[in-house]
Amino acid sequence: MLAKLKSLTERKINNVVRKSLFDWPLDFGLETAVMNNVEGDYHEFGVFEGRSFIKAHNSFKNLLPRSEFNKMKFWAYDSFEGLPETNDPYAPKHFKKGAYSAPEDLFTSNLKKAGIDLNQLQIVPGFYDKSLTTEQSKKSFSERKLAMTYIDCDIYESCVPIFDFITPGLQVGSVIVIDDWVRHHTHPNYGMQRAYNEWLERNPSIKMNQIALSKRIMFVVYEV
Ligand SMILES: C[S@@+](CC[C@H](N)C(=O)[O-])C[C@H]1O[C@@H](n2cnc3c(N)ncnc32)[C@H](O)[C@@H]1O
Repeated sequence: MLAKLKSLTERKINNVVRKSLFDWPLDFGLETAVMNNVEGDYHEFGVFEGRSFIKAHNSFKNLLPRSEFNKMKFWAYDSFEGLPETNDPYAPKHFKKGAYSAPEDLFTSNLKKAGIDLNQLQIVPGFYDKSLTTEQSKKSFSERKLAMTYIDCDIYESCVPIFDFITPGLQVGSVIVIDDWVRHHTHPNYGMQRAYNEWLERNPSIKMNQIALSKRIMFVVYEV
């Protein structure tokens, strides 16, 4: 009985440690964005049911002075229909068309339940190849640049338009966290790494410092 309890507790502790290690670049990214003291908004690409979005919102709320926090907008970009198709041969099997589909009203009702003030929320619905236009980029970054972005959209095809979209929003100190960096066989020519590498080749003036890595990766921009 005691042995069973011990093994259950160990499993629980292992899960907590594993999860916090996985989450670490996101948590550290949120703290870094606050420490860097850059004026700007939070932009999340791939919000699904709102888990990471709520975490980011609450983290800024807890860490920033209220006057700074009140100026922030929280931007959510999602198809609300899940992933599009991918041609990536190394994409995990479950990254298929329609995976992670959650309707927009489920996202907003989860935010409401978490006590989030929807006045600070900006939702840009649609698949990125259509929704992330130059006009939308101008709109998204017209008042404030990017304090932090969390890119959690799983596949190469989704990631490509995001990097071009955020380029005008970058400033020294902007924090970029990308999920699933070590998926797609951790191959630099596939998945997020491919989209990221191609983007920097197109934009050699952008310089980023890699700060944290686990399942996710965190960069901070130091030259634009
Ligand atoms: C893994 S889920 C995000 C999970 C969320 N960040 C969290 O931690 O709870 C991936 C999300 O990316 C969105 N997505 C992926 N590719 C997309 C695309 N090309 N256009 C719009 N949304 C996309 C999906 O609809 C889905 O909600």
